[in-house]
Amino acid sequence: MLEKIEALRQEVSALAAATLQDVEQMRIKYLGKKGELNALMADFRNVAAEQKRELGQKINELKTLATEKINSLRDQLASADTEDETLDLTRTATPSHFGTRHPLSLVKREMLNIFASMGFTIAEGPEIEDDWHVFSSLNFPADHPARDMQDTFFISRNPVDVLLRTHTSSVQTRVMEKTQPPIRIVCPGRVYRNEAISARAHCFFHQVEGLYIDKNVSFADLRQVLLQFAREMFGPETKIRLRPSYFPFTEPSAEMDISCNICGGEGCAFCKGTGWVEILGCGMVDPNVLKACGIDPEVYSGYAFGMGIERITNLKYRVKDLRMFSENDVRFLHEFDCAR
Ligand code: PHE
Repeated sequence: MLEKIEALRQEVSALAAATLQDVEQMRIKYLGKKGELNALMADFRNVAAEQKRELGQKINELKTLATEKINSLRDQLASADTEDETLDLTRTATPSHFGTRHPLSLVKREMLNIFASMGFTIAEGPEIEDDWHVFSSLNFPADHPARDMQDTFFISRNPVDVLLRTHTSSVQTRVMEKTQPPIRIVCPGRVYRNEAISARAHCFFHQVEGLYIDKNVSFADLRQVLLQFAREMFGPETKIRLRPSYFPFTEPSAEMDISCNICGGEGCAFCKGTGWVEILGCGMVDPNVLKACGIDPEVYSGYAFGMGIERITNLKYRVKDLRMFSENDVRFLHEFDCAR
């Protein structure tokens, strides 16, 4: 019994508590009705008479120690609680910092939503591609400069060219090979071009390309869809302008400008005084492309368009340096908190 008392004495001396609930647990454990001290008292009755004096004294000391210890722990915690009189219980808790969506993801989502509302579905494909899907099926002549080492990152050249896709038109090829029209898709994704990294160019960027193939699809359909997109993206006042251009996979081809959304078309530094800014390339799918993908150009026609998400994001949020998009500086990313 002496040992038991000594063990309890050490235990009680070492007690520490973080909350008032802890203290109450201790009180129950040591001083409660079914607590350690009462258990000792019960055992005490069976102790031989000559030991009673010594043990009785020890038990009393232990009881005093436990009571004092528990009371003092309780006092400490209670006073810590009320010490700070400016404590404001109505104050909101310290806010936890949530991550934010990346500006390119926000803009991509907005673009895809607009096209979804016009009946386009999303198609995705691999970033590592072969020559056929990125170039040959899309009517690129064998000596076209885009195939050049300057533009394309090649992974291997033997037995076939394996490369990082330079545009998401490769996804359109993959869908056309497997599906007969009507086809109405948008292809978002990352693309790679071998360019020196600067504020205005990067070795990778992101695109959303679109493809619609059916019977009697015309250039007027293309124009209307792009006008609708521009108005939803940049506001109902936005005007568009189509300029003749060249792409191997479309004929006729065009580049589209929108009225500068910064000066409203008046002319400013951003649009270099012209009132217009270029946002995309487009055109009617070349019959050679349809043929290469197993679609009969005598029956079907279609249009395609493609644009860079970075460019659209710059127009919306005026990000001056393209490199900001891939540096993942949280101060930059948190600026898009409100757009979540
Ligand atoms: N694939 C072209 C590019 O990456 C964009 C484009 C798509 C142009 C469809 C016309 C039609 O620049």
